[in-house]
Amino acid sequence: MVQAVLVGCGSMSKVWLEAARQTEGVTIAGLVDLDRSRAESRAREFGLGDIAIGADLESVLEETKPDVVFDVVVPAARHDVAFAAFDHGCHLLTEKPMADTREHAKAIVAAGRRANRHHAVVQNRRYLAEVRRIRRFLDSGAIGAPTSIHADFFVAPHFGGFREEMDHILLLDMAIHTFDAARYMVDGEPVSVVCHEWEPKNSWWRQGSSAMAMFDMGRGIVFTYRGSWCADGFRSSWESGWRIVGEQGSLVWDGFGELRAERTTKVRDGLFDKVEPVTVPPLDPNDRVGGHLGVMQDFIAAVRNGGEPETTGTDNIKSLAMVLGAIESAETGRRVPITV
Ligand SMILES: NC(=O)c1ccc[n+]([C@@H]2O[C@H](COP(=O)([O-])OP(=O)(O)OC[C@H]3O[C@@H](n4cnc5c(N)ncnc54)[C@H](O)[C@@H]3O)[C@@H](O)[C@H]2O)c1
Repeated sequence: MVQAVLVGCGSMSKVWLEAARQTEGVTIAGLVDLDRSRAESRAREFGLGDIAIGADLESVLEETKPDVVFDVVVPAARHDVAFAAFDHGCHLLTEKPMADTREHAKAIVAAGRRANRHHAVVQNRRYLAEVRRIRRFLDSGAIGAPTSIHADFFVAPHFGGFREEMDHILLLDMAIHTFDAARYMVDGEPVSVVCHEWEPKNSWWRQGSSAMAMFDMGRGIVFTYRGSWCADGFRSSWESGWRIVGEQGSLVWDGFGELRAERTTKVRDGLFDKVEPVTVPPLDPNDRVGGHLGVMQDFIAAVRNGGEPETTGTDNIKSLAMVLGAIESAETGRRVPITV
């Protein structure tokens, strides 16, 4: 059995503990939160019995000597949690974003390598059936090579808590999902970004609730992102609404319903080529899905059997680099190269 200590018993810890309950080969050995009562209440809720509970990660790691740390803390605390985990010889599965700055992300990846431990990130939207199907469909060439990809995200939540105190909140906390999904869907190697952030007059956020970004994704592919966490009415899906244009057709997904695609018949009708619908194949049995559960299962399988989890820190840092590049562009007003 893989022994795990989970740190950060706020709202997302419930999803993690449910995933852990359904993941074969892992037991929760301890729960940690700065607010000890949160850890106690999660332990009761999940019937975890006599496990270690504490407000200080180091001492719970000393006491339980686990194999892995599940990190569900706020982004600002992630660096210290990662170093504590690796110092204690633990593998680390961490919530997104994998770090709050480029320096912290690089330091965490380097520390994981030095400690020779697995380090993976819960980039759970990769583990959505539609996202997997889009990637397979594009790889099949059914609408030709992708030339542009577009995501729209308009949601107006009132979370309270750390999010309303953070700078660049949309880019760091939410757009990381969308950017990672875009990079995955078109197998992109992002080159540069231009980004503009703004704060609507009615904003209840500290900074950066709204942003537009345009990326050069390599191989001639352009990615545009339009997003706001301060946009009441006609709420988009949390997965964003997508349009992907290929050399011979397009695919659209509103983030809720079915995937739809059309391609040219190459038969001219007035100004336009006639188009025909193309079926997007169902999920392939080899596609890994299941959101948090899927990510956790792959991580625990890698810890037990070897191999590399898909959302390993060394790859995920490329999605974080898109976010950090967008932030730098918004701050400087310049096009910024994407560097890891
Ligand atoms: N993958 C997703 O879909 C998804 C969705 C929501 C949130 N998240 C991420 O999950 C993380 C947590 O979000 P949340 O909504 O649960 O936040 P939250 O504020 O509800 O919970 C965070 C908890 O961490 C605790 N904490 C902070 N620093 C700590 C430290 N040094 N040691 C111990 N405990 C500490 C806080 O006391 C709090 O209880 C964030 O990184 C967020 O971006 C991911």
